[in-house]
Amino acid sequence: MNALRARFLRHVAQTSEAPLALEIERASGSTVFDRAGKEYLDFLAGMGVANVGHCHPEVVDAVRAQAGRYLHAMVYGEYVQEPQVRLAARLAELLPGALSTAYFTNSGAEAIEGALKTARKHTRRTKLVAFEGAFHGDTLGALSICGNPLYREPFAPLLPDVLRLPFADRAALERIDAETAGVVIEPVQGEGGVRIPPADYLEALRRRTREVGALLVFDEVLTGFGRTGTLFAFERFGVVPDVLVIAKALGGGLPLGAFVSSAEILGTLAVDPPLGHVTTFGGHPVSCAAGLAALDVLLRDRLAERAERLGERLRSKLRSLAWQGHLVEVRGLGLLVGVELDDARFAQRLARACFAGGLVLNWTLHRDQVLRLAPPLVIGEAEIERGLEILSQAIAEAAA
Ligand SMILES: Cc1ncc(COP(=O)(O)O)c(C=O)c1O
Repeated sequence: MNALRARFLRHVAQTSEAPLALEIERASGSTVFDRAGKEYLDFLAGMGVANVGHCHPEVVDAVRAQAGRYLHAMVYGEYVQEPQVRLAARLAELLPGALSTAYFTNSGAEAIEGALKTARKHTRRTKLVAFEGAFHGDTLGALSICGNPLYREPFAPLLPDVLRLPFADRAALERIDAETAGVVIEPVQGEGGVRIPPADYLEALRRRTREVGALLVFDEVLTGFGRTGTLFAFERFGVVPDVLVIAKALGGGLPLGAFVSSAEILGTLAVDPPLGHVTTFGGHPVSCAAGLAALDVLLRDRLAERAERLGERLRSKLRSLAWQGHLVEVRGLGLLVGVELDDARFAQRLARACFAGGLVLNWTLHRDQVLRLAPPLVIGEAEIERGLEILSQAIAEAAA
């Protein structure tokens, strides 16, 4: 083992016993290069971040320009920071009227925490409703609404008063009652195995949350910014949440999250007491400048429409591969694609063989027989073809 990898394993806290351990040298577009010069096609977009591709030149320029003006200057919420204000205003222009105000954070999980606190404080209720198969991040609050006991139980006791419902089950929505502060849901479950609810399910959820006076929180950390073929997945379902949680691609490659709602609902965090929810680095000016540049690219280059077009083609080509009898279903929206296989061990062998062949993809956290393909939305058609060739070869190897 070389010295750098050995030091990575020894001194950088590990998240599993089998990290990919790709020794990255640089990244560009849909490709990551290792220190030996080997190219990898990134069909995970850095796990949902690089929607405009890695190191988009306009994002890099914006980062350089902002880094030359000021970096961190004051905690969130005190100074008027131009990139932060412009990004918040741009989001408000793009979102329905009820989502006019952004509270910026450093990450997705932190934005979820803010949304949970907002729901509790705004409604003066404590109960939270979440869904089986859900993933919202790994802080204690976000973990409390996680939909997989495997990941919750080692950290129990977590937040009390959480009701978990089966995903996409309309009848179960009746169990959301007038004690509920907030209902948190991914419009399309990512780590739950790329699960798409029926068309009218989110509408029914919207109706039920209105009936009982609970806030409806959509977690679009993964599905946002063109990933599912529209700027946000909720647009596809015609349902507007009370709170929208975003992160990942929001920062164009820099750490940034936000929970977005009305000025009235978010106003609850500014009073009784004031400064009851603060962050040092949330909405960092360099992250916001990067996010603005990425958003400009996404809209100008119509990347959501591109995701829709390429996603449909990718799914149809995936269905026609020789899966050696292991394929159960190919599904997805835009360029968030899940390939359900009949065997988790086969999925793992396949992901490993893809990686060896120069293609980065993986299985979803809560459904390990589902492979996830979610490349940058700028990926070229020839790159998709090359990825499919590597995958084809890997299927043959994994099945042998
Ligand atoms: C749907 C969803 N919500 C929340 C998170 C947590 O985001 P972060 O890793 O930035 O804390 C993730 C991360 O993968 C996610 O996929």
